[in-house]
Order: sequence, then structure tokens, then C-alpha cells
Amino acid sequence: MPRTDDGQTIKLADYRATDFVLHSVAMTIRLFEGRADIDTTLELERRKGADAAAPLVLDGDELTLTGLALDGTPPEGDRYKASPERLEITDLPSDRRFTLDVATTLVPENNTKLMGLYRSNGIWCTQCEAEGFRRITYFLDRPDVLAPYTVRIEADRGAAPILLSNGNPTETGTLPDNRHFAVWDDPFNKPSYLFAMVAGDLDLIHEPFTTASGKSVSLAIYTEKGRSAQARYALNALKRSMVWDERRFGREYDLDVFNIVAIADFNMGAMENKGLNIFNHKYVLLDPETATDTDYAGVETVIAHEYFHNWTGNRITCRDWFQLCLKEGLTVYRDQEFSADERSATVQRISSVRRLKAHQFPEDQGPLQHPVRPTEYREINNFYTATVYDKGAELVRMIETILGREGFRKGMDLYFDRHDGDAATVEDFIACFEVATGEDLSRLALWYGQAGTPTLTVTEDYDAAADRLTVGFKQTLQPGAAGTGTTPMHIPIRFGLVGSNGQDKDAAPVQGAGVEGAVVHLTEAEASVVFENLGERPYLSVLRDFSAPVTLDHAQSEADRLALARLDPNLFNRWRILNDLVGAALTKASRRPSSATQAPLASEIIDAILGSAGDESLEAAFRAQALALPGEAEIARMLAENVDPDAVHAVIETARGDVGKRGAALFARLHADRESSVEFSPDAESVGKRALANAALGYLAAATGDPGPAEEQYTIAGNMTDRLAALTVLVHRFPDTPASTSALNDFYDRFERDGLVIDKWFAIQATIPSPKAVEIVAGLATHPKFSLKNPNRVRALVGTFAAANQLAFHRADGAGYRWVAERLVEIDRLNPQVSARVATTFRSWRSLEPARRDKASATLRQLIELKDISADLRDILGRSLR
Ligand code: TRP
Ligand code: ZN
Repeated sequence: MPRTDDGQTIKLADYRATDFVLHSVAMTIRLFEGRADIDTTLELERRKGADAAAPLVLDGDELTLTGLALDGTPPEGDRYKASPERLEITDLPSDRRFTLDVATTLVPENNTKLMGLYRSNGIWCTQCEAEGFRRITYFLDRPDVLAPYTVRIEADRGAAPILLSNGNPTETGTLPDNRHFAVWDDPFNKPSYLFAMVAGDLDLIHEPFTTASGKSVSLAIYTEKGRSAQARYALNALKRSMVWDERRFGREYDLDVFNIVAIADFNMGAMENKGLNIFNHKYVLLDPETATDTDYAGVETVIAHEYFHNWTGNRITCRDWFQLCLKEGLTVYRDQEFSADERSATVQRISSVRRLKAHQFPEDQGPLQHPVRPTEYREINNFYTATVYDKGAELVRMIETILGREGFRKGMDLYFDRHDGDAATVEDFIACFEVATGEDLSRLALWYGQAGTPTLTVTEDYDAAADRLTVGFKQTLQPGAAGTGTTPMHIPIRFGLVGSNGQDKDAAPVQGAGVEGAVVHLTEAEASVVFENLGERPYLSVLRDFSAPVTLDHAQSEADRLALARLDPNLFNRWRILNDLVGAALTKASRRPSSATQAPLASEIIDAILGSAGDESLEAAFRAQALALPGEAEIARMLAENVDPDAVHAVIETARGDVGKRGAALFARLHADRESSVEFSPDAESVGKRALANAALGYLAAATGDPGPAEEQYTIAGNMTDRLAALTVLVHRFPDTPASTSALNDFYDRFERDGLVIDKWFAIQATIPSPKAVEIVAGLATHPKFSLKNPNRVRALVGTFAAANQLAFHRADGAGYRWVAERLVEIDRLNPQVSARVATTFRSWRSLEPARRDKASATLRQLIELKDISADLRDILGRSLR
């Protein structure tokens, strides 16, 4: 049996407050080459009512204690016990405040885990969420311990002219030996995971901002030398985020400065440290030559997300890590709403739903399933998941759908009012909406605790003689891996009855409780709703805007679906219904043996796709979405069992060729119409036009087998979006041809010095749809630009290969699994958070056909048998095998 019993399981039910209250933190951080000395002074007090004999137990992680004093005096040796993981002190006062001075020493240069204090290209920086602060000093390192911090940083003036921490700057000065210091004061109570410090030789751009109430704030973005011009768009996105949060939620910024630092080596996207956000530089640095439209959208989203955390996460934080969705789900909801308001709401919703289905649905339908609010964990870093973030956002969105815009805003206002300064829970959050609106949300709240994707079954029965439509709704939730409940939940179902004229009928139900305007509130296992006097049989458009994160099982005729794909006034549903139709056809074809030879898509379906793509009354970005076929992983998920990735790939390829051939004239026109000469602009309309032209290019190549148009586009491309689209067509569709090889080499030569672009160069090769990609990635792993220490590079090559190259990762001989497993072991020695993340790409192994399933599980079992893998990786492997 695999060992999964490493470390201990933390349980929500075991929560209790600390025995000691923390009043303040003062730190002095002295930075040297090869060493950092940390002096921390904590002002503590035993909590009223706590056990008078309880010791103070502080968390550590790989720490070295170099000094300890209680009220200024070193304690007797038998009063404390120190290990790298823990500092325990006994006989502490029961009736008064006391101070504890703790000194530690670190080697940031050796910190390859990128948690705690580390160096990235010479820059000293920190990452403390979730449990990184304990790698800097011994501490009550949990989110419900809040305090104001004063931080003094000392460093060599040449190595680190810039010294930053949380809060406002208060003092700077000169020290002997060409050293200097800066003092930062953060008056807002915060937990340790929001602590941050940066020191280095950085460039910056800055701009003033005046809040709605007239407070002036200095905004700045710091980058590596010579790159600050690439932060302009990020600064612009920051200002738009600040204005939006004032208008939409009445939330203003609260410090005198807001600083962002862009770092090359970073475990995730970015971090919302109070007043000092630290970003993976991928989400800050951009220009048209090196970044795609997708990169621009990513920067806008992540900048907004981290800024919005200032209220949802920082001013109101989480009581414990089980409540992670309280800040993450809510903040993703807020950044999605921001993007919807800044761009096209429909297209934004389509891309959020695509993301949910691509990442969260497979997680919720496999062994890594967990509720949005888990009740136990071994390694909290493994719970920064699509379920917590994206399904968490869907749950907030359902609250908004149930309460309406105004009711939702009232609840949010009460939440900010009541809980400002608190470490709160999901229950606190939901109570605010109930109190503010009088609505009962108990059935909605169940969503936080019950794992799995519910199935929503919809039936319709039209009695022509009586002109009566009866719609049945039924919800089912399978008991899943997480062992949580299956009680019926509140599912808000936005719907419309579409007439043959393409307009919604304004029909109130004659029977059926729980219908409010355009929303059916399903709160029991089943319900039915009856409509009369419709004048004709309407087309039933359900789950508009994806009003609940469910699997829809609606036995709707193909004719009705095709009509809605054309007529539905709800544009999201036009896309959704068409996408479901295509997905169902591709899934069905993938089940047939020798499926690739038959046409997977009926000509009516292809015409529906082409109809949307060619409809000039629709925005270009929407038309491009209509052209994007479901991906291989999406079809694999819908197959659910006995998946043969080769067959799925062949089916999608055939479909792509068929669409390309039938639409050849349209695609030639759409591609020719592209505006390659106009100056680049990242606005939504231009982005949509590029997406449409590039989708057309892909279909043209699939249909004609001619690399010519892609070659030409590559050569004349005036921006990275068009260049990368052309390169992708060349490399994926015409591998090993002179056209492809020379473009790939040209790309490398042009961008050799820019790591973020080299990541694209690695990723494009890692996703070559060929079994040979295993040898290709193996070769690239020895390329001088590859590094196991940089998470972006690891994700670009190893992560992308495993997540996005179904054909090669799942190669029938198991070579793809073995190559990834070997890399996992190497990555794990350096950075367990990254190895654990990459390992999740194995999660759907059970749905594979038997031969691959055996190979994948054998690989996982061999990995988990290794004695010295990290607890992070072991947790993922153990749960994947359960
Ligand atoms: N709180 C961050 C966000 O979502 C994400 C985060 C959690 C993170 N842990 C991290 C980022 C570790 C970097 C490293 O905005
Ligand atoms: Zn977040």
C-alpha cells in the first residue's frame, strides 16, 4: 500500500484560538551577501481565560535560533526548547503583557522553495502565504493572529538601494560601511502571511492617485533594471481597478503608498501583501512585441485580483486556512466582474466558464475532489485549487443571482461594516447577506461543504392542444471521493422561453414555486414549473450565463439547440448551447472504434459554427469563441471512462479539418481582413479581431495543409499575438518542415534574452501534437535556457507538456508518464510546492483505457514509494491514488 500517512492531518473541527494574544511586531532585517539576520520583538499577553500554565508554542520551518530574550533578559535554558520547526517557552506571565525578542539567521540564497525570504536574480524578496513567515522567524504563524508591524531593513546601498516593506515609509538613513536603512510602519492589523519585504537594485515607474474621498496615494511598480517601461499597462490596470472598486463596492484604498514588485522566480501568480504586492513578473511586464493579448488579459486580471484583496483578504482576512475561499473565491468573483465591466461581459463569462470546466470540473470529478471549504488538509499549499478559487467564485455569483445586484451590494456593505479588521469565516460572510436581505441562504450554504459537480436534469413537455409547457428540474449529486453530503442545494437557474422570432416570451408560470422573474430557484431534489398561453412551443433556454456550476443534462432536440444557437437573445447561451452540441458530438465520435475516419460533426452543426463565426452583427471576440472547439482534455472528461487520447485527438483533428474545408471561403476572408498594419492596441475590440483572424488561420491550415499563410503572417507580424499564433500553426501542424524549423529558430534568436518569451518557445514545443514530443521535451530539458529552479520555466516545459499534450503525455508506452515522474523527483528536491502542482496533471488517470491506466498508476506508485519525496508531493500522490 502507498504510504499516505506522512505528517499530520489538520481538521477544521479542531479549531481553537491561541492561548496568547499578539499586540505588536517589530522587526529588524539585516541583509548581507549569503546571510540575513532577523531580530523580532513580539509584544504578547496571555489570553483572558486561557490556561495559566499553557506554554507559548511558536511555529518554525528550517530555522536557526540565534538569540532569545524575555522582557529583555535571556531565559534560563530549561524554560525553552528550540528546534528548526518549533520554539516552546514555559512559565510565561499570566497577568500582564511581556516582550519576546527572537533572533534568527537565514541563507536566502539557498532557499529554493521560494517560501520565506529568498533571492531572485539578486533581489531579496519574501513570500509568506500560507506558512512562509515561519521560515523567517518563530511565530504564531496563522491567519487569526493579527498585529501592526514596524519593519526596519538594513542593507548595502549598492546591492539594495531600494528597501520596501508593508505600510507607509517613515524613516531612512545612512549606516557605516556603505550601508543604509529604511523603516516601514504598517498601522493595519494583519496576519503574518501578509508580511512582505523587498530589497534590491530596482527600477520603478510611479504615479499619484486620488481616492474618491480625496486621499492621495503614491502608486509605484518596481521591476528589474531596464524593464520598468514594460510595467505601464499594469500601472494603468491598477488605477482602473482602484476606480472600479470605489464605484462598484464603495471601497477605497487606505495607505499613503501602494507598491508592486515584479519578480522572475515566483511560485504562483502574485501575492496581495498589505501595501506591497509581489508579482510573478509574467503578470506585470508586457509590450506588444513580447506579450500576447492573453498575457494582457492576465496582467489586468491579476493586478485587479491582488488589489481587490486589500478589502477582501486583508482588511477582512480568514480565521483559518479552511476559510481560504472566503478571500479567494470572493476576490476571483470581484476580478471577473471587473473584467466583465472593462471588456465584453459575454465574452468574459464564456472565458470564465471555459476555465471552470477545464480546471475545476476535472478536479471535482476525480480523486483530488474537495469541497470549496475543505474540512481537513495535510498540506495547505495543495488547496490553492480551482475548486477554492473558481468554484468559490461561482458560489458568490450564485448569491448575487439569488439576491439581485442591489441585495448583493447590501450584503457586501454589511460584510465590510461588520467584519473590517476581523479574521472571519464563511458563516460570517453568508450571515451578512441573510441579515441584509432577510433571505434564507441555508440551502445555498450547503455548496461550501458538499464536494462534486451536481447534475441538473431538465425535461420539457409541451401540450399543444392546451398550449401548456411543463418544465421539470431535478438535481443529483453523487457521493464522491471527499466523503461529503448530497443534500439538495439551492440552484438558481436563469432561463428564458424563446419564441420563433428570437425574443423572450414574457410568460409568468401558472404553477411552480420558486420562480422569480427569469430565475427558477431549485431548492429541493425536484421541481416543475408550468407555463401557459405561449402562442407556440417556445425554445427553452436554461442555465443562462451558467447561473450554477452544474453538469447540465437537458434532453433537448438537436433542432431546438440549433435554433437557440442562432436565436437566443442571451448570447452566453448561444455559445453554450453550440459548444454543448459540438462537445456531445465529439464525445460520441470518440467512443466509436476507428472513429477518426467518420465525420464527427454533422453538417448542420458545422453550419451553426460557421453561422456564428460569420455573423457580423456579433462582436469579433464572440465569433472567435464560437470557433474554438472543445479541447482534448474536455472531451476526455466528458468520456469519463476508457479514454483513448489518440482517438480523441484524431476526432478533434478530423472535425477541425471538416470545419476548415466547409468554411474555407469564410476563413480566407476573415484572415485576409485582419488589420496587420494598424498600430497595436490591447482594447477589447482589437483583441477580438485578432482572435477571429487567428482562429481563421488555424482552420485554413487544417483544411489546406498549406503552411504559406502562417509563414507569411509570422514574417510580417507586428505583435506577439499574431506572431505566436502563426508560429503555433507552423510548429504544431507542420513540425520538422523547413518552414517550422526556421520560424522556431528565428523566434529563439529574436527573444533569446527575454525569459518570458523563451517560456513561450518551450511551451509551444512541449505541446507539439505528436508522440515524438516526449523526446523533444527530453531534449529541451538539457537546453541551457532551461532551469529547474525557475517555476515559470518548469511550468512552461514540464507543466505544459503534462497538462496540455494529451497525445504525448499519455503515450501508449508510458514514456510520457515516466519522463514527467523523473522531472518531478528533481523538482521536488528544490521546490515541493511546484512539484506537487505539476503532479496534479495525473489526477484523471482512472478514466484512461486499461493499458494506459495501468502505466499511469504504476508510475504514481513508484513515486510514492520513494522515501525522500516532500510531504506536498506525497499528499497529491496519495490522494490521486485513493
Ligand atoms: N494569495 C495569492 C492570490 O491568490 C496566491 C498565493 C497563495 C500565492 N500562496 C502563494 C502566491 C504562494 C505565491 C506563492 O492572490
Ligand atoms: Zn487571491
